[in-house]
Amino acid sequence: MASFPSYRPRRLRRTSGLRRAFAETSLDPARLVAPLFVKEGIDEPSPITSMPGLHQHTLDSVVKEARELSERALAGVILFGVPAHKDAAGSEAAAPDGISQRALRAVKDELGDGMVVMADLCLCEYTDHGHCGILQDAAVDNDATLEAYGSIAVAQAEAGADIVAPSGMMDGQVGAIRAALDAAGFSEAALLSYAAKYASSFYGPFREAAEGAPRFGDRRSYQQDPGNVREALRETALDIAEGADAVMVKPALHYLDVLRAVKDQFHHPTAAYNVSGEYAMLMAAAERGWIDERAATLETLTSIRRAGADLIITYHAKKAAEWLA
Ligand code: PBG
Repeated sequence: MASFPSYRPRRLRRTSGLRRAFAETSLDPARLVAPLFVKEGIDEPSPITSMPGLHQHTLDSVVKEARELSERALAGVILFGVPAHKDAAGSEAAAPDGISQRALRAVKDELGDGMVVMADLCLCEYTDHGHCGILQDAAVDNDATLEAYGSIAVAQAEAGADIVAPSGMMDGQVGAIRAALDAAGFSEAALLSYAAKYASSFYGPFREAAEGAPRFGDRRSYQQDPGNVREALRETALDIAEGADAVMVKPALHYLDVLRAVKDQFHHPTAAYNVSGEYAMLMAAAERGWIDERAATLETLTSIRRAGADLIITYHAKKAAEWLA
């Protein structure tokens, strides 16, 4: 047996205790962030067809949901508002008494400082054309959009957001938002930038939930092409230089290599967004009995952690936290 190896990897896999003791990656609810949708003008939570188990919330039901999440000790929540009235400038996004700011205030009141309250910062849910910025001749005007983003950030910080998370992929957005927050006295408000966000086909269910699909064209003039990774590193470097406290890669699963590269290169706090289409695919297969929801979800989240995510924004957050408890 001289040729048989004296090192047998299976020894450390023999019992659940051994496997746990030598696990390289941990998953716990404190690493998970739950997205929440709040819609103006509805009386009851409204189920999102393409995202089984999730709802567009009322102001009351979003607070109740936040309370249930806090009992499961998640890292936090990220809020998306769906206003009743949209216009070309997306003016409801920065309205101090708009649905998003009212929801932020209510959720922050409920959660206090024990859980992080994030505000997604974008215009697509608020504009009548569904693009993430201000249009000039049917194209998104980068610098006019930056001004709007600054006002939205200030309104969100004022409403109690611990973190604002710009997702519009405009050039210079992190610097512009940081400057606007500081000038308004919110130097403590933190910034999580969607640094490497791809023009992905996996956002479809979200656009149903947030009612923010573009009315014409697509987002490829501001979001990245799926094949580019060096571009993601340049985007991330810029965001960090402009003052991003944490950076994000989105989507997660088809971009785990990008996530790993961002983490290794910058050693910055790093989040990944396990997006709506990823959730929908898993849930659709699970509903048909083709895969096991619990096992597939925990494997998915573990893989995103293994690839370098400190935080995962995921629609699986609530159930995963229950399974992990
Ligand atoms: C807004 C925004 C989008 C998502 C998060 N913020 C949609 C988009 O860029 O079209 C997608 C999230 C998901 O699919 O879960 N810009």
